Amino acid sequence: MDLYEYQAKDLFAAHGVPVLPGRTVETADDAGAAAAELGTAVVVKAQVKTGGRGKAGGVKLAQTPDEAKEKAGAILGMDIKGHTVHRVLVTEASDIAEEYYFSFLLDRSNRTFLAMCSAEGGMEIEQLAVERPEALARVPVDAITGATRGRRRRSSRWARSRRPSPTRRRT
Ligand SMILES: Nc1ncnc2c1ncn2[C@@H]1O[C@H](COP(=O)(O)OP(=O)(O)O)[C@@H](O)[C@H]1O
Ligand SMILES: [Mg+2]
Repeated sequence: MDLYEYQAKDLFAAHGVPVLPGRTVETADDAGAAAAELGTAVVVKAQVKTGGRGKAGGVKLAQTPDEAKEKAGAILGMDIKGHTVHRVLVTEASDIAEEYYFSFLLDRSNRTFLAMCSAEGGMEIEQLAVERPEALARVPVDAITGATRGRRRRSSRWARSRRPSPTRRRT
């Protein structure tokens, strides 16, 4: 499966996982309209299937609809790691206190599922895995018992304990 961020968020929403309100658009004018509709400060986010969009200039904060239009104009058409931006997600800006990374994947070599979790969610996970593997929790998840509450708790507690300092944030 290979999803755009907005598709993943729609799936989350359909299954009751809270996501911020937003709209995906293809023009700068529509981005301005979406921001006006949301009525808050927004983040304009390039929809490309690669990470590190923020660092590449593909994620920008906009305080007003005009600013959202301008930022979308700058992001649309941008090339991020070989991916051309055709769509942007205009979503409510939130005051982020902490960012986490959490994923479930199929661990073929061990014939099981694996939960990976890190309290350094602002970093690209591939980079974190190479540079600071100790900050990435890897918890096997049995296919029969699944991701029980205990397993999920253990993953997140473990990740928090590996955080360099309690308030450190990377964006
Ligand atoms: N809705 C939002 N509100 C405020 N800041 C955001 C929002 N979405 C993203 N950001 C900021 O932009 C950064 C990059 O966005 P992210 O979704 O992590 O994309 P990527 O990992 O591809 O750079 C985040 O680390 C966060 O600091
Ligand atoms: Mg990120």
